[in-house]
Amino acid sequence: MNIPLFPFRTELYLRPFCKFDVDILKESGLDEGEPHKNSRTDSKFLYYVVLATNDLPIGFVSFDDKEFTISYRITEKFQNLGWGTKAVYMLVVLIFATYGETILFADIYRDNLASRRVVEKIGFNFWELRQCGAMCLRYRLQI
Ligand SMILES: CC(C)(COP(=O)(O)OP(=O)(O)OC[C@H]1O[C@@H](n2cnc3c(N)ncnc32)[C@H](O)[C@@H]1OP(=O)(O)O)[C@@H](O)C(=O)NCCC(=O)NCCS
Repeated sequence: MNIPLFPFRTELYLRPFCKFDVDILKESGLDEGEPHKNSRTDSKFLYYVVLATNDLPIGFVSFDDKEFTISYRITEKFQNLGWGTKAVYMLVVLIFATYGETILFADIYRDNLASRRVVEKIGFNFWELRQCGAMCLRYRLQI
C-alpha cells in the first residue's frame, strides 16, 4: 500500500529526477553542477525540490543509503526564503519513513554558514571534523 508522506497541502514537494528534467534543469538555473551527473550523488536517491504553486524545481536533496549522508542545494534566486530548511526536513522524514533510519549525517565546509544553519535549525549537532577534499564539519542527527 502506498501512503503519501505528506497527505496535507504542502508548499513544497520532493519528486525523483526524470529524463524530461534535462530541459527543466536549464530553465531553472539548476544546470550548473547538474546534480544527477554529480558523482557525490546517486540519482536513485536524488529528489528535486519543487514549488507546489507552479511545479517549478528550485533545488535538490540527496543522500547515500550506506551512511545516510545528505546533501542539498537551492538555486540562488530562491535562497534565504526558508525552502532549504523545509526541503531538508522533508528529506529527513522521507528517509525515516522509507528506511527507518534514525541517524543521518551532513558534511559541510566550515565557511558554509547558510548550510550549517539549515541543519542546525533541524536539530543536527556537530559530530566531528572530517576530510572531504578540504576539511569539513560532520553534523549528525539522531531522531
Ligand atoms: C545551503 C542552502 C541549501 C540553504 O538554502 P536556503 O533555502 O537559503 O536555506 P534557508 O532559507 O532555509 O535557511 C538559510 C539560513 O542560513 C542563514 N544564512 C544565509 N547566509 C548566511 C551567512 N552568510 N551567514 C550566516 N547565516 C546565513 C539564513 O539567515 C537562514 O537562517 P535563519 O532562518 O536563521 O535566518 C543554499 O544556500 C545553497 O544551496 N547553497 C549552495 C549549495 C550548498 O552549499 N549546499 C550544501 C552543501 S553541504
